[in-house]
Amino acid sequence: MSISIDAKSCIIDGRRRLLLSGTVHYPRSTPGMWPGIMREARAGGLNCVETYVFWNQHERGRGKYDFSGRLDLRRFCECAADEGLKVFLRPGPYICAEQDYGGFPAWLRDVPGIRLRTKNDAYYAEVRRWFDVLFACLSPLFDKAGGPIIAAQVENEYANIGASYGSEGGDYMAWLRDLIAGYETGAPLTSCNPAGSDEMMLATPKLEGAVPTLNGGFVHPFVRTFKRWAPGHPCLWTEAWMAWYQVWGLPRPFRPAANMTYCAARFFAEGGKGINYFPWHGGTNFGRDGMYLQTTQYEFDAALDEFGCRTRKYELLSSLNHALREHESVLTECDLPEARSFGGGLEARIFSHDGKSVVFLCNDNPPSSGERAMEWGGGSYALPGQSVVMLANGREAWRVAGSDALDAPSRVFVSTPAIDSGGWLAADEPMPADAGDWVAIGQPREQLAFTKNKTDYAWYKCELRVEGGGRRRGRIVFQGINDFFQLFINGERAAVSNTHLPEDRGPWDGADYRQAFDIELEPGGHRLAVLVCSLGLVKGDWQAGRRNMVEERKGFWGRASWLPAGPGQGGGVRFGEWSIHAGLDGERKAIPATQGHSAQWRRLEPSDAGRPLRWYYIEFQPPSGAGPAAFDFGSLGKGLAWVNGECLGRYWTVGSAAPEKIPTEHNQVMHFAPPGGPSQRYYHVPREWLHDGKNVLLVFEETGGDPGGIKLMNWQPAPASE
Ligand code: GAL
Repeated sequence: MSISIDAKSCIIDGRRRLLLSGTVHYPRSTPGMWPGIMREARAGGLNCVETYVFWNQHERGRGKYDFSGRLDLRRFCECAADEGLKVFLRPGPYICAEQDYGGFPAWLRDVPGIRLRTKNDAYYAEVRRWFDVLFACLSPLFDKAGGPIIAAQVENEYANIGASYGSEGGDYMAWLRDLIAGYETGAPLTSCNPAGSDEMMLATPKLEGAVPTLNGGFVHPFVRTFKRWAPGHPCLWTEAWMAWYQVWGLPRPFRPAANMTYCAARFFAEGGKGINYFPWHGGTNFGRDGMYLQTTQYEFDAALDEFGCRTRKYELLSSLNHALREHESVLTECDLPEARSFGGGLEARIFSHDGKSVVFLCNDNPPSSGERAMEWGGGSYALPGQSVVMLANGREAWRVAGSDALDAPSRVFVSTPAIDSGGWLAADEPMPADAGDWVAIGQPREQLAFTKNKTDYAWYKCELRVEGGGRRRGRIVFQGINDFFQLFINGERAAVSNTHLPEDRGPWDGADYRQAFDIELEPGGHRLAVLVCSLGLVKGDWQAGRRNMVEERKGFWGRASWLPAGPGQGGGVRFGEWSIHAGLDGERKAIPATQGHSAQWRRLEPSDAGRPLRWYYIEFQPPSGAGPAAFDFGSLGKGLAWVNGECLGRYWTVGSAAPEKIPTEHNQVMHFAPPGGPSQRYYHVPREWLHDGKNVLLVFEETGGDPGGIKLMNWQPAPASE
């Protein structure tokens, strides 16, 4: 066996190694991109890539497994091995990962008696069945069998929810560890924990039999406490957050390359023995697999951008990785370095082994604090704020200097003439016919029970009666509804829901699920219909009011009521019995799967402008060149798009506003691009989804955007600045 982990470091193929790993989630890129991503990983100094396993995507229907295309995990691991990279596997079953339902298949909700992520026979049986399939598929890829997989993580950051499940949570983690160990892969098991403070770490229960690891935006202040908390283990930073994910309604997060590199270097200076850049390549949430509120791009300000191209962060981190590799024998032979403090935020860390030395000189003051001089070994070193200088055997070997600035983009979108906007066809998405597949439910009921998460959409309808004479002014209040919806009265759109959606939400009957609209009603009967759209399932209990994720719900489950605008406006407004209809007419006709053949198309007319609920179709030629391409959907509103039958993902040009709070305790290192523009304007279309000759773009536009403005863009190196 060629992998083991002792107190000092990982030992791989008989040598002490620093683990230099980068996250690449295989379904977030295409098989055609994998060899390039792996080449860049190796060139960037990594010796490993890490991925979660996406159960929700592999088993969309119970017992129907899919390991093809973007889900070809074996091929992904082989691509890594082809570049001499090891693989660190995080099989879950729960993965978080900004993934629909945290990576659980949504049908788990329907297993009688199930509770997720805690001791429970129904849950155990499903996990065991899935893991039997998964580990049988992967067994040739483990190190023991000559493959690249060198470690496997048990669950994911269980400490985030463990306290709610008490001893049953602990039993579950031990059961899961034993289950994975039972597959006898030979790979060491790990268990990751959120880093936050020394107190938090010391209070976190450890999973016996697994190597504990840390996740966070920076962890160097905690390395020494880690060694007290987990003696006998090297400090491995399994999620070194490159910035943060983006949600609809917020601008793009970023983290300066220099700050990331400083924190990574500072971690190794403290005695860290392995890092996993999370993510090295973020990629794209194709299809409907992003979690609730997650944008389609999963850029994360990573080393490789969404399209797999190098960024400034790539360049800086690569230089660090290579410098570390050159001196890894000294760094891994010493457990913790000798620490020397010079006061005022200036520190030295000294590693020595076998007559060789590596010294890190560090200035931990903010970038704005200016330069400080440090004397060492007869030399004087100028250290700007947040910088690290690495000396090997007394000579400067590497350095990074801090900065808070947003890195200048190295690439730009350039419009191509690939789409002739005169070629658009349109088809209406009708409200489902009265005789269609409506289910009478009386009172509103949440939609997943009907949609099974196979569609984002559900219609609700009822008759709204205004008794007596005179029109009424008032407010319709919906309590217990999510995520995004449009209200239709007598077939005309009367309102669109408020789009300020919080990521973490409170109780089901609370304000996070309430929306109200001022309207006027004529006397008599009205057809009231609501089209509710899911934006993905939660990724963890905390997004659903700290309830077990199995209680997740979508659609409309509460009640609608009428609040009169004033005296004389009330009384006699009654809501009738409700019915629900799962999905769209176009989905029933399989418009995306048939690439439009099943729809009745007509030419796009000026009267389509601003009208909600339309399907659009256009044929186009592939753009020139072989580089990455993306659609500019800036003229659209919200919906889903497909190219040649492949779903590009959800799109939404909802405006971005500054966040009320930075969504992480590591806020010192996270920043946001200026708010104002659409949350996401450009949508990745992988080159391998485009054919020579005719290509088909299909769009389902919910809110009334104009397809005429769609452009196909090339993602090109930015022109050199003067
Ligand atoms: C971690 C989690 C990851 C990912 C990350 C944020 O807490 O383990 O799966 O969700 O946060 O991007």
